[in-house]
Amino acid sequence: MGLLTVEGVVAGYSAADEILKGVDLAVERGEIVGVIGPNGAGKSTLLKVIAGVLRPHRGRVLLGDTPIEGRPPREISALGVAFVPQERNVFPTLSVRENLEMGGYLEPARVRARIDAIFARFPLLAERRRHAARTLSGGQRQILAMAMALMVEPALLLLDEPSAGLAPMAAERLFDTIRAINADGVAIVMVEQNALEALAIARRGYILVDGRNSASGDAAALAADPDVRRIFLGG
Ligand SMILES: Nc1ncnc2c1ncn2[C@@H]1O[C@H](COP(=O)(O)OP(=O)(O)O)[C@@H](O)[C@H]1O
Ligand SMILES: [Mg+2]
Repeated sequence: MGLLTVEGVVAGYSAADEILKGVDLAVERGEIVGVIGPNGAGKSTLLKVIAGVLRPHRGRVLLGDTPIEGRPPREISALGVAFVPQERNVFPTLSVRENLEMGGYLEPARVRARIDAIFARFPLLAERRRHAARTLSGGQRQILAMAMALMVEPALLLLDEPSAGLAPMAAERLFDTIRAINADGVAIVMVEQNALEALAIARRGYILVDGRNSASGDAAALAADPDVRRIFLGG
């Protein structure tokens, strides 16, 4: 059984609005899935539906065999799905440590142990634990946002354009961190503008166009596909 199954999801921002027009997606335990597609295709909307931020009009979202569509974000987080939105994903005036404390719906007794584990995993955050998040570089802020999401020890991490706005070196470091998180056993769905990079680190990929699945399959095969290269990778 797959970790996550999205079937025929129709969703939008008002009752009449169909941004997603019947989207399917499957994620196996422990894999990285890349979701690419033009601006406005509905990639962020799809992640919002999975995370419970947006209730779909129709269709199913299954975690294992448990339906989660329409459940509140808090419940979905407790079931092991963590979401890092593209924007406003850290609290700028709070310290790194305080951000981690906000990073999940955890019993207070577990928070300290979890933060210690995160600091051991991300020494860069440990060094800056007392610094306000706004003083971090863009790449460091994205790592903090992912670390917050990892507070709940999710089985699945949803990342919305983690490399947006980063210089190439910082983006490289971030992709290395994403690979390392995955190597710890966390499955990842990653939406990326940087299509080539996304397909390079993903095992499988999905291309969304205008709220529909356009192509999907083995990431390396998608990256080598002439149509995909022409449309998304500049030739
Ligand atoms: N909060 C919102 N309210 C109304 N429409 C929205 C909202 N967020 C996104 N949209 C619209 O939904 C469509 C898909 O957006 P989005 O899922 O953000 O696309 P992508 O992430 O692929 O660029 C766009 O036309 C966008 O204008
Ligand atoms: Mg988006």
